[in-house]
Amino acid sequence: MALIEWDEGKHLVGVEEMDHIHQGFTLIVNRLGETLDPSIFKSLFIQLLEHTQEHFSTEEKLMEESGFHGCEEHRHEHARVLKQMSYINEKVQTGKIAFGRAFVEDLPRWFDVHAVMMDNALATYLKETGFEIALGDTATDIIADSPPAPTAL
Ligand SMILES: [Fe+2]
Ligand SMILES: [Fe+2]
Repeated sequence: MALIEWDEGKHLVGVEEMDHIHQGFTLIVNRLGETLDPSIFKSLFIQLLEHTQEHFSTEEKLMEESGFHGCEEHRHEHARVLKQMSYINEKVQTGKIAFGRAFVEDLPRWFDVHAVMMDNALATYLKETGFEIALGDTATDIIADSPPAPTAL
């Protein structure tokens, strides 16, 4: 059974980078919820931790670069979750899988609230200020500036 039922109406924030990361998060959480194999659970939990570090640092970079004002509370919440996840990961890696299962089963509830409240507020700010469009322009510039493909002789 999938722990997180991806729901566009609820989870989609409308900023591509963030939506892509959130879909990746959902996938890992659901794999953790489905596996019965302790060694797969252990390696998926490491994946979850690494993905979450990347997830949060990407959002924090977006906050800093765009000058988003709700920054501190959001960053604080990320730090709290990461600290707890790292602690649980230590337990999981020593074979205490039940700690990991209990933690993972609580993640859908956390994700629902976090995506709807904090991530959505950030995404709304990025869209309103046009920062998201600026990100898109940068990507286009990089592609436009890359050297032309070599032509066949
Ligand atoms: Fe997020
Ligand atoms: Fe977040």
